[in-house]
Amino acid sequence: MTALASTRAELEPFLDGFANGKRGVVMTMGALHEGHLELLRQARHDCDLVVVTVFVNPLQFGPNEDFDRYPRTLDDDLKLCAEAGVDVVFAPSVGEVYPGGPPIVQISPGAMGEVLEGEFRPGFFTGVLTVVNKLLHLTRPDVAFFGQKDAQQLALVRRMVLDLNMPVEIVGVPTVRDADGLAKSSRNRYLSPEERTIALALSRALSAGRDEAAAGHGAAAVRHAAVSVLSAAAADGALTVDYLALVDPQDFSDVPAAFTGDAVLAVAARVGTTRLIDNLPITLTSGAS
Ligand code: PAF
Repeated sequence: MTALASTRAELEPFLDGFANGKRGVVMTMGALHEGHLELLRQARHDCDLVVVTVFVNPLQFGPNEDFDRYPRTLDDDLKLCAEAGVDVVFAPSVGEVYPGGPPIVQISPGAMGEVLEGEFRPGFFTGVLTVVNKLLHLTRPDVAFFGQKDAQQLALVRRMVLDLNMPVEIVGVPTVRDADGLAKSSRNRYLSPEERTIALALSRALSAGRDEAAAGHGAAAVRHAAVSVLSAAAADGALTVDYLALVDPQDFSDVPAAFTGDAVLAVAARVGTTRLIDNLPITLTSGAS
């Protein structure tokens, strides 16, 4: 049976009860989908105690973003967590997570947090790292599982753990996609059927870039192939591209034309009022275009 804890006091006994076992946490904002379930499966496989946090974090939403309309589906989330064998769902209030009100002390993501998602969502990664830090303190895991779909978030969480000597292992879990390629996301439920079809351009663009790399072409060709797909989709105005970038997974800086090695091809675009992100890990074997 999955227990529900809403306060730190309610959560503590579960954590104390597994003091000698391996404790894992999966942090979510709820509206769970198959991508989250993959994280839960991995956590259940690796850990003795699995805690899932469900918290829509106000600190990571900008003033014109979707905090108010973000889907809140706790009853459904609890059922899915029970089916996945989760031990405890921790669903705190804003006051429980931010007992002093909006926090004066926050975690700065540095330069890596100011590009791509950070450029289009100012303050986003400060909000994410601050709440991840708090939830790590509250849930005290040995291992925390994050989706590779949010590749920049995952890289920044890894960097925070390294830079701040935090005693937790971070595990990245591969992106789950629908059969037609669309990456699973809580925000997909905002899309109309027509918009969902348009949104497929994101994964198609990433695949086109990956195919160029697999054919032995370099960074310029990868970018060009992906941009071509997006430009065609954007031509009728139904899709607006925020960025398409081929970056170094260590710091999310753009890779130079002659780069060889592991990179991340990342995209963000808006379809109607819905903003979507996706990425693929890519290995460049040739510095030639
Ligand atoms: O990836 C998310 O759902 C959120 O950014 C996280 C990690 C739960 C922090 O609010």
